[in-house]
Amino acid sequence: MMHRVVFLGPPGAGKGTQAAQVARDLGVPHLSTGDLLRAAVAARTPLGLEAEGHMRSGGLVPDDLVLRILHERLDQPDARAGYLLDGFPRNLAQAEALQKFAEVDGVISFDVAPDQLVHRLSERRVCPKCQAVYNLSTKPPKTAEKCDRDGTPLVQRPDDRPEAVTTRLKVYAEQTAPLLEYYRKRHLLRPVDASGTPDEVAARVRRVLS
Ligand code: AP5
Ligand code: MG
Repeated sequence: MMHRVVFLGPPGAGKGTQAAQVARDLGVPHLSTGDLLRAAVAARTPLGLEAEGHMRSGGLVPDDLVLRILHERLDQPDARAGYLLDGFPRNLAQAEALQKFAEVDGVISFDVAPDQLVHRLSERRVCPKCQAVYNLSTKPPKTAEKCDRDGTPLVQRPDDRPEAVTTRLKVYAEQTAPLLEYYRKRHLLRPVDASGTPDEVAARVRRVLS
């Protein structure tokens, strides 16, 4: 079983949805740089304030900020058993930096058609209090637009607005997609068909990991 895993894939591919369960199965923490950055934004830390504008527009946050926040998290004791990196690395510079400070056993890449990505993102809603993720068509809350866990009104992520989604897909194609070849060459790439229901995708991910 792999314990140092990277989830690579376009925005809306279902990385976060799958990562929560897979991390539990592997007994390792789920480290999403997007989640770490959003927590820094919500806490109004200096790093969060610097990251906020980049995130809102759909562009990448500068590498030095992302590396700083990830290093801090990887230093926590629970990351010694391994980690599931979700949304990192996102460009060649980050992949090269990662190679210097952490091992990777496998890179699961999520394949989904672009029109499905746009649809999934436009229907995503999140709880601003507990960060639970919903989807109006595929994972609706029990009560309209309210979190099942705490009843908080759901919101849309600022970068799920159409203009930001367009930018994120472009940034993915230009800066992140080259990592597929980078990891293929290193014999670490494990592509997974990420279309279909979350349960179908989970079964494919599990097969690749075992
Ligand atoms: P990040 O938070 O990483 O966002 P992302 O990569 O754009 O990916 P998403 O979280 O949008 O999608 P996901 O694949 O997790 O999909 P999910 O499971 O939620 O990054 C955000 C921003 O932070 C970046 O733009 C950048 O600014 C910054 N950042 C982060 N990391 C960085 C880095 N390393 N370097 C620089 N900047 C960085 O699913 C999406 C929706 O679809 C949900 O509603 C879900 O319920 C639904 N869904 C999931 N699976 C399925 C399915 N199989 N069928 C139908 N619906 C599904
Ligand atoms: Mg995510």
